[in-house]
Amino acid sequence: MNVSNRTLFISDNLPILRGIDSETIDLIYLDPPFNTKRQYKAPIGSPAEGASFKDIWTDSDIKHQWHGEIAETHAELYQVIQASEAIYDKSMRIYLTAMAVRLFEMQRILKPTGSIYLHCDPTASHYLKLVMDSLFGKNGFRNEIAWNKYIGRKNNARKKFGTQQDILLYYAKKSALFNPQYEPLSESAVKEYRHKDENGRRYRYARRGKGYESIGGKRKIYLDENLGIAIGTLWVSKDLQLGQSSGERTGYPTQKPLALLERIIKASSNEGDIVLDPFCGCATACVAAERLNRQWVGIDISPSAETITKIRLEEASEQGQLFSPIQMSDVTVTKQAPIRTDASDTAKQRTLSSYRTHKNELYGRQEGHCNGCGLHFRIRNLTIDHIKPQIKEGTDHIGNLQLLCGSCNSIKGDRPQEYLYQRLEEQERALKEKLRGYET
Ligand SMILES: C[S@@+](CC[C@H](N)C(=O)[O-])C[C@H]1O[C@@H](n2cnc3c(N)ncnc32)[C@H](O)[C@@H]1O
Ligand SMILES: [Zn+2]
Repeated sequence: MNVSNRTLFISDNLPILRGIDSETIDLIYLDPPFNTKRQYKAPIGSPAEGASFKDIWTDSDIKHQWHGEIAETHAELYQVIQASEAIYDKSMRIYLTAMAVRLFEMQRILKPTGSIYLHCDPTASHYLKLVMDSLFGKNGFRNEIAWNKYIGRKNNARKKFGTQQDILLYYAKKSALFNPQYEPLSESAVKEYRHKDENGRRYRYARRGKGYESIGGKRKIYLDENLGIAIGTLWVSKDLQLGQSSGERTGYPTQKPLALLERIIKASSNEGDIVLDPFCGCATACVAAERLNRQWVGIDISPSAETITKIRLEEASEQGQLFSPIQMSDVTVTKQAPIRTDASDTAKQRTLSSYRTHKNELYGRQEGHCNGCGLHFRIRNLTIDHIKPQIKEGTDHIGNLQLLCGSCNSIKGDRPQEYLYQRLEEQERALKEKLRGYET
């Protein structure tokens, strides 16, 4: 592991994720922007004052190169992302592209026993599920959890039902760890254990019903052996919500409750394991990890995340809420991306990547079309061509490069671009003539 416990990166998470060694993280929780087309701001006067982030997606949020990267490694995912623009709108394509390149890294850095919880809402959850299926495989899917985030009813229920839940897409690698979680029994259920045995243990008798006779009638069920009610995929409980006046509130926009993170961390990690939150905001996941004796790494692009994280950790430590007290000098805050220590033959990778980077960049710029005939192709069916041929001293600079399909590439050969266009025009004219011949 090339990142140490209690590190907070103040940076775009992509370069950080790219710098983390493969298969080193036990659990990832991410609560990214949801493509809600809103700007979030912390209220003035709150400890998080000044914190803000935008959830509006435009061309400037993605790089051309990412199209090619996705098209090259996950051709089917590329198609899903392209289709989202036609079904929804352009912002969805941009949002999913930005998420896919990051989720791709998260999949890489998760241990074979690791799990990931992607927190989203119904705006994009169904698109993100396709992205996750593509990256983790259909067997990687574990649960879609509906978390009831509001206390009481939502009042946006006049023209449709009020949305009350966020969605957690829970995926895991093949040999993922899972610790079942239970809710305590209700008071009335506890009251049913009204008998006491000679050792003072409370019990009740098994209820009549299926199998009752086969277990010999009056079987005793002990209260201390009852783990509680196994938790399912509907997370509806006041304890999991962040009340308006909760002492936990920092004012950070979209802050999540500690209890929610604690449930996830308990279910999918053990003490000492490493929890990563790449969109950590006011560090709810980091504080929850610290309370449960896990290691943590947080990343947030907003500089205000640093102040608020330190205030939170310091207060929690002073109030004895952490597993063991910590000093702020134990926390490393940095902008510097880690350097991978696990990449073998790095020189070879670099040369390969410069060709790939160009190809990926061009694929994005040309939006998957051949620069000659204009038809759409899979990335593997396009090749890099020098617009001004190398024999005429055309350079390797990206400005002199283009992607052509096999047919256009063989027409052009080492000739200039005008030659290709002329030949394509001729071909088109000839085709039209032929079609006219059929019509008459
Ligand atoms: C929904 S909030 C997370 C809230 C967090 N779960 C909490 O409880 O405080 C999303 C966060 O993602 C951060 N963010 C947005 N784009 C980012 C990026 N590219 N890299 C890192 N952080 C980013 C924002 O600054 C914001 O704090
Ligand atoms: Zn072509």
